[in-house]
Amino acid sequence: MLLSVSDLTVAYAGVEAVSGVSFSVGEGELVSIIGANGAGKTSILNAVMGLIPSSGGRIEFDGTNVTRLPSHLRARRRMRIVPERARVFAHLTVRENLLVGAYGLRKAIDLQKKLEWLYGFFPVLEERSAQLARTLSGGEQQQLSIARALISDPKLLLVDEISMGLMPKLVETVFEALRDLNREHGITILLVEQNALASLRISNRGYVLEAGRIALEGNADALVRDAGVREAYLGI
Ligand SMILES: Nc1ncnc2c1ncn2[C@@H]1O[C@H](COP(=O)(O)OP(=O)(O)OP(=O)(O)O)[C@@H](O)[C@H]1O
Ligand SMILES: [Mg+2]
Repeated sequence: MLLSVSDLTVAYAGVEAVSGVSFSVGEGELVSIIGANGAGKTSILNAVMGLIPSSGGRIEFDGTNVTRLPSHLRARRRMRIVPERARVFAHLTVRENLLVGAYGLRKAIDLQKKLEWLYGFFPVLEERSAQLARTLSGGEQQQLSIARALISDPKLLLVDEISMGLMPKLVETVFEALRDLNREHGITILLVEQNALASLRISNRGYVLEAGRIALEGNADALVRDAGVREAYLGI
């Protein structure tokens, strides 16, 4: 497994938000963790990236125990996060934001080629490459946030609620891009999402998170067919 998380616990001021959660993501897989508001999705993703401390459990990434590694050292091992509510550098242009994503890379990459590849996925970013990021629409900022994480050639991409605030058409576009990145370019992706149907549709496997615990797990198509999941998360 590229990522193995066992018994992860996250607490805020002594109150557990995530209670002994275990899951894994294999190399080349696209895996979703779905759950309602406050279920603990962001807490899990931030703990995996090392942005917040875990209070228990073990996180193994690419054969290494990273549980106690600071986030920049996890990033150096090519783990990247697209945080909740796309955070972009407001006063930099789109292109500059992308270049920041490539800053500090050890391996020299052909930036121009990489930019062209990203613009292929997200054409709007090319149209707006000279525009200040703060003047982008929310959906454009989400796309920029993904592209910025991708420019560094991640081994594992963690994506937090990318569908938030996007109109349905754009949700489709962004999820298709994630699916292609996974299927055509072999990027391993862990999504956390409230939008259960859109995320399970592109996933290999999924986990259902309820109040900080995994309630259900399985193949994505089995979860989509599961009566309980359909009622609770899919509204059908
Ligand atoms: N910094 C914090 N301090 C205290 N409590 C927190 C903090 N961050 C999150 N929590 C609590 O932990 C629980 C899980 O929050 P989390 O953000 O992980 O949920 P989520 O599944 O990402 O929700 P959403 O779908 O709304 O983004 C919630 O009850 C939340 O109030
Ligand atoms: Mg969240």
